[in-house]
Amino acid sequence: MDYISIEKMKWRSRRSILELDLFFARFINEGKFARMDEVQLGYYQQLLEFEDGDLLQLFQGKVRLTDPLFQKLIDEIAQVDFYKESTMTDVNENKVEVQNQRVVKVDFGNGQTAEYPIYKATIGQDVVDFRAFGKSGFWSYDPAFLATAACESKITYIDGDKGQLFYRGYPIEQLAEHSTHLEGAYTLLNGELPTKAQKEEFETSVRYHTMVHDQFLSFFKGFRRDSHPMAMLAGAVSAMAAFYPEAFDFKNADHRKIAIVRLIAKMPTIVAMCYRYGQGLPFMYPRNDLDYSSNFLYMMFATPCEPYVPNPVIAKAFDRILLLHADHEQNASTSTVRLAGSSGTHPFAAIAAGVSCLWGPAHGGANEAVLKMLNEIGDESRVEAFMQGVKDKKYRLMGFGHRVYKNMDPRASIMRKTCYEVLDVLGKHDDPLFKLAMKLEKIALEDSYFIEKKLYPNVDFYSGIIQRAIGIPTEMFTAIFALARTVGWLAQWQEMIEDPDLKIGRPRQLYTGYSSRNYVAVAERK
Ligand code: CMC
Repeated sequence: MDYISIEKMKWRSRRSILELDLFFARFINEGKFARMDEVQLGYYQQLLEFEDGDLLQLFQGKVRLTDPLFQKLIDEIAQVDFYKESTMTDVNENKVEVQNQRVVKVDFGNGQTAEYPIYKATIGQDVVDFRAFGKSGFWSYDPAFLATAACESKITYIDGDKGQLFYRGYPIEQLAEHSTHLEGAYTLLNGELPTKAQKEEFETSVRYHTMVHDQFLSFFKGFRRDSHPMAMLAGAVSAMAAFYPEAFDFKNADHRKIAIVRLIAKMPTIVAMCYRYGQGLPFMYPRNDLDYSSNFLYMMFATPCEPYVPNPVIAKAFDRILLLHADHEQNASTSTVRLAGSSGTHPFAAIAAGVSCLWGPAHGGANEAVLKMLNEIGDESRVEAFMQGVKDKKYRLMGFGHRVYKNMDPRASIMRKTCYEVLDVLGKHDDPLFKLAMKLEKIALEDSYFIEKKLYPNVDFYSGIIQRAIGIPTEMFTAIFALARTVGWLAQWQEMIEDPDLKIGRPRQLYTGYSSRNYVAVAERK
């Protein structure tokens, strides 16, 4: 079977039931798919034609097939233990482990050589410590950090080839199923799942800090009503520092702790304010009797005129969106927060820098861009023509592709399932935009352009559809991403500040401008 057909089969292995996705994904990732012969590939192809329910029955052993070879393949796929391989172990408590024997030797071609130590990662790629490289008289050149680890971290790990994501070693699928955004936040910040008492204490302290200073309400009046929520959010988060004029010492653990809690607690309030201000709606005070996500939905959609009860299924789905977006290792906005924070600046200012970076369409702005794109396409009949434009590189298919994932973004699989759940609860299964997105997804996943470039849907392809169904306007999507990512930004900022090797970040450059020339008076310029 040719390469494209095989890649198409891998794509079809993704079904709408998450458990089935996981069966197939693990089977493929374990290399078993690659080892199949033509006969088995034929069976596999047939398997993909089964209905989800039938397939699940087969994988659960409730139904068995008469053909022994076919059944053997099913047994092999069904053997997969979802989380067996996914659990990270042996986290080294020390700083990086230096592999005494392993070094990289560099010959500079001028008689000069140097050796650089290799540090071992718990999982994933090891790194070469090039910090002393500058002494050779060269800089290393790596714009966009394509091959540069800018820090050591124990928080989040992505296996881009396998399509796996872990927070503190916990697979995202397990957290999405069993945990909450606030529990995830505690874990990201503290390294371990909280005990019952720790969980209660953390949630209580977040709840206690949800209100903003009353003067903050007037601050919003400086904005035009039609300002983009991200412009307001970046300004408002930065301005929060002005509401705590007491000295902030980033080296003081107590100062850091209270700043972290304040930010996590007040972000939902501020994000909701950005929306309400734009709509000319009165700000709603937070309700501390509600959980984190229900309270946010309340502040977004309630009015003082009548009671509002957040739908628990929607609140749960929204909480999952937050949890899935909470951290994503050293992405552009997180690196921005780290770089800004490395100067010792106020954490509110560092997080505001992260908000600004996230706004871009190549990053968090993609969820908004996906919806705009779907609206522009408008109708299923225009999908083919649109895809041709993508392949002709006139524009990109938003919500597809990722710097790290060269496989399915695991968050996207969960989001896709959540999408179905939310649309079901809201009775919007026939949502035309969702149908359009599914058609676009199918065509893209089976197109050789996307297969060859390993472009898969990312989390943003689906999150916008869910948010739209909940009633969140498109221009708010990235602000909600920022609300979720605040947790990751803070965990990464804290880890950096606590690193005894902390230094202000300061990249070098390859200068290719003029070497030196004399100033020319304006009258003499041509
Ligand atoms: N549609 C069409 N072609 C694409 C796309 C896309 N969405 N993404 C990448 N390509 C092509 C690109 O043209 C290039 O082709 P070639 O090798 O022929 O020049 C190749 O794939 C590699 O692209 P790249 O720009 O070098 O890849 P990158 O790692 O620098 O970019 C990305 C990653 C996410 C910025 C990019 O895939 C993209 O622009 N995607 C659309 C925006 C998007 O969905 N962003 C959300 C990312 S996930 C949320 C988050 O973490 O922020």
